[in-house]
Amino acid sequence: MIYKLIRPLLFSLPPEAAHELTFKLLEKFKYLFPTQHYDLPKPIQCFGLNFPNLLGLAAGLDKNAEYLNLLAKLGFGFIEVGGVTPKPQPGNPKPRIFRLKEDQALINRLGFNNQGVDQLIINIKKSNYSGILGINLGKNATTPIENSLKDYLIGLEKTYPYASFITINISSPNTQNLRELQTEKYLSDLLGPLKQKQQDLKKLHNRYVPLLIKVAPDLSEQDIQIMSDCFLKNKIDGIIATNTLVQKPENLKSVFKDQTGGLSGEPIFEKSLSIVKSFSAILKNQIPIIGVGGINSPERAEKMLEAGASLIQIYTGLIYEGPGLIKKICRQQSVL
Ligand SMILES: Cc1cc2nc3c(=O)[nH]c(=O)nc-3n(C[C@H](O)[C@H](O)[C@H](O)COP(=O)(O)O)c2cc1C
Repeated sequence: MIYKLIRPLLFSLPPEAAHELTFKLLEKFKYLFPTQHYDLPKPIQCFGLNFPNLLGLAAGLDKNAEYLNLLAKLGFGFIEVGGVTPKPQPGNPKPRIFRLKEDQALINRLGFNNQGVDQLIINIKKSNYSGILGINLGKNATTPIENSLKDYLIGLEKTYPYASFITINISSPNTQNLRELQTEKYLSDLLGPLKQKQQDLKKLHNRYVPLLIKVAPDLSEQDIQIMSDCFLKNKIDGIIATNTLVQKPENLKSVFKDQTGGLSGEPIFEKSLSIVKSFSAILKNQIPIIGVGGINSPERAEKMLEAGASLIQIYTGLIYEGPGLIKKICRQQSVL
């Protein structure tokens, strides 16, 4: 309700400025807001973790883990921070986020702007967040695609002690060639050593941190088959489907529809849903899937779960609907 009142003011600002202002203000006044709890009667077990509810915050909203205490108040079952890269980097020149209001969507070409993995860890340590924390790893823009593994290994090693799960993001459209890592040519060479590192870190820290892979929505059935085989072979713990969409639908209405970048929100729902269905049909519950992309209502949340997702995440829906969306989705799940 309050969000509906302040949304016109926020939407009168450029998206990145609105994002910064919202978080700065909320951070200042966070003590005024009660912490929401939408815990299900029984936690959901997935990747060996116990999730209090099945709705999580998707990666990208809190790239540097700066706002964990604040986000913890919203009632999410889990929070994913990042994408973070080994070294800090500025990302692409501004403007780089576009609000497609008529389409209830965003296009972003941020390009992994972040303060680097060391700062992310400092911020996590400073927070009081004790819930389930996913950390989303990317590679630096200056790292050639052939050396991507090195960047992911640095991220994995440094974040392992602080993460509940770690996501290898090979599906952002805004880092040149990154999505090529999803192809047969690179995938096995990447996943094998990452799994080995995970085993070594498990021994070192005496704790198993699941390794998830985040995939794009722009995948053919053949791509999905090849990737599924590779995920099974390498015993990947989970899949996050999907990231933002590059092949834009033709029926977008906003003047920003032709901006370069990844589309998120309402118009990508059907695409993300079909990707979840395809992975789910092949994997048959052998690898759990987190469904994300265009979820903006309890009905869509339910459809994503019916398609085969064990958990779901939101980002753009939160921008358009506000925190009330978390309540609506979680309430519906607890009465089902
Ligand atoms: C501004 C913005 C930044 C994002 N940054 C990341 C990121 O750093 N890493 C990542 O894996 N996904 C990132 N995403 C993708 C989201 O996590 C999510 O997969 C995608 O937006 C689809 O969900 P939605 O339609 O609910 O937004 C970003 C999305 C947006 C809109």
